[in-house]
Amino acid sequence: MQIIVCENYEEMSQKGAEIITAEVKSNSKAILGLATGNTPIGIYRYLVEAYHKGGLDFSEVQTYNLDEYLPIDPADENSYAAFMHDHLWDKVNLKPEHCNIPAGNVGMEGAAAECAAYDQRIQAAGGIDLQLLGIGRNGHIGFNEPGDALHTGTHAVKLTDSTIAANGPLFANPDDMPRHALTMGMGAIFAAKKVLLVANGKNKHEAVKGLLGDAITTACPASLLKLHQNLILLCDKEAYHG
Ligand code: PGA
Repeated sequence: MQIIVCENYEEMSQKGAEIITAEVKSNSKAILGLATGNTPIGIYRYLVEAYHKGGLDFSEVQTYNLDEYLPIDPADENSYAAFMHDHLWDKVNLKPEHCNIPAGNVGMEGAAAECAAYDQRIQAAGGIDLQLLGIGRNGHIGFNEPGDALHTGTHAVKLTDSTIAANGPLFANPDDMPRHALTMGMGAIFAAKKVLLVANGKNKHEAVKGLLGDAITTACPASLLKLHQNLILLCDKEAYHG
């Protein structure tokens, strides 16, 4: 594992964008796994800036997002699809047909077929070259939540109270937050050639400790990542030192 501890959020975001930029420059057809949430917003801002300065070309890049609420309309302003349109997809020269995210408007009955199709698309694309990940306060990655077991493939999950408490306030009416989500499983995340996990702020310290500690446990899904051959932990001082 490579650990990069930055002074603050801005430095972390800049560094994250540099790592992704290097990936895209070394492979114009890179398959990027992308994440939503507060943490990667700065990275996307620096990527958009690098694109506008010139020299960063996403025209052949494909992206696969980790997760989406269920049920949600992709056009809903709270959907992760909308987040990605706002922060990256519509701001660089990614082709719309190259931007992938599980469809949250399939309903519970369509979830299994959507998940299987999503995994097939990732495999057909050749797997993920670089997976960007945030980390939940409870150690979740994507919506792979702490529990008795973790799953390999993309699957539907019931969100935990901790995740509902963290994300509910982002909805105009927190009660409108969907209680389920579709998430990539540990399989596609682990199969990524490189994983870039970003964390900032004191409230991520416990989760970062879970990642760095000796234990590998489904009680902290991120703890499994220390088995990954090419993991970069990119964080700020607060997340690292508490
Ligand atoms: P955050 O979410 O970036 O909004 O803290 C991270 C996550 O829950 O994976």
